[in-house]
Amino acid sequence: ELPEIGLIGLGVMGKSLALNMASKQIPIAVYNREVQGSEEGVARDFANSHPDHQIPWFDDLQVFVKSLPKPRNIFLMVNAGKAVDSVIQQLIPHLDKGDLIIDGGNSHYTDTQRRAKKLKEKEILFLGTGVSGGEEGALKGPSIMPGGDRKAYDRVGNVLEAIAAKDHQENPCCTYIGPGASGHFVKMLHNGIEYGEMQLIAEFYQLLRFRLHYQPEQIADLFLDWNKDMKSYLLSISVEILRFQEKNELLLDKILDAAGQKGTGSWSSIAALNLGVPFDTITTAVMARNISAEKELRLTFAEIFKHTEHFLEISEEELFKAYKLASLINHATGFELLRAASSEYNWQLNFSEIARIWTNGCIIKSGLMQQLSELLKDSAGQHVLSLEAFREMIETNKSSLAFVVGKSVEAENPLPVASAALNYFWNLTSATTSANMIQAQRDYFGAHTYERTDGKRGEFHHTNWSKS
Ligand code: 6PG
Repeated sequence: ELPEIGLIGLGVMGKSLALNMASKQIPIAVYNREVQGSEEGVARDFANSHPDHQIPWFDDLQVFVKSLPKPRNIFLMVNAGKAVDSVIQQLIPHLDKGDLIIDGGNSHYTDTQRRAKKLKEKEILFLGTGVSGGEEGALKGPSIMPGGDRKAYDRVGNVLEAIAAKDHQENPCCTYIGPGASGHFVKMLHNGIEYGEMQLIAEFYQLLRFRLHYQPEQIADLFLDWNKDMKSYLLSISVEILRFQEKNELLLDKILDAAGQKGTGSWSSIAALNLGVPFDTITTAVMARNISAEKELRLTFAEIFKHTEHFLEISEEELFKAYKLASLINHATGFELLRAASSEYNWQLNFSEIARIWTNGCIIKSGLMQQLSELLKDSAGQHVLSLEAFREMIETNKSSLAFVVGKSVEAENPLPVASAALNYFWNLTSATTSANMIQAQRDYFGAHTYERTDGKRGEFHHTNWSKS
């Protein structure tokens, strides 16, 4: 049978996706460039270790491309960044009009815009496709976010849907996201929410362990209990992490507290800054990773400014309420960025569908995501925090979030994302902000003008401040 998909790149994700496709009886061929110095070819090795699937393998790009039936569908699973450009560059001379390239990496959406434009000039179709779920997701069913040419989606949508995770109604966690770079934008924001959720869990863990003096095992039990309500994948893996022993010791305690990152979190924040969208929690989560990475600096400062030991008492119920609301706020701001991008780029994103394909396969799957997929069906244009379904929870939990953040601050314990969520919430619910002072200052030193509360919106005034 002729290959329907040619897959390039056999890293962890590429291999898993290839096996996923093969196990769904999708005929594929694989290519991996020869790795210098290695004796065995990566592609040959891979194909040979899965003889049942009889996957044709190639280490010559031209031969690989020629082996694919036209119009060709080529799935790139190579590292985001220069590698994608380099593979596309190598591919172009061998491709024909109507061929399709699917980029399944975490590419920056502006790179995707640029590549789509360049390929369009050559009449080559392009799908910038977010793939979430890590190694296991890629193998068993990821959440897939394809964006670009609609007719390209129509051609390979059935394959993508076949390998995707299934939602609770057995529908694929894959849908056509929209034109242009929308697929990669949506994946980027998925990761932004991921950053916020991870940091929130880390913060509550730290508060529980070092200010409330819980044992890791107790925190695991507590998180497990919270997860009856949250049904969050990230919370569930955190429970396992809190129980994972290596030589009778908690592995977590042996892991250096300096977080890595590959960019998607900060890209989300940069997009929010560019679009003028409030984006407190995710940006703060990126900053928390940044400061964690400054290990040497922190060690130095910890010697200079010593924290006093504090023993806090906060009820588990209060903590849970705070966590739950902070998590909702993190999601809400994430969807606000999607809303702004959708209108800026005219993508017509379907927020309910986006939430639906995030209910399984991906890293941020949760009970809340399930709820959002349903609620956003009829309230697509609405701020998530304004949805009636959350009204009561917000009303009852907001004082707990304030209480927990307040206690934590007093106890010299940083709770950055929870605090950011709370500040965002207080600001969002303020009829008046301090920005009249900002406007006055701007007008004072730079004649930037201001609108008046007793005037019309859009009418700008200037005062000669030093004379008044
Ligand atoms: C996913 C993950 C995946 C990857 C992140 C991690 O959805 O499967 O988000 O894409 O693990 O890129 O990002 P950092 O290395 O920046 O934490």
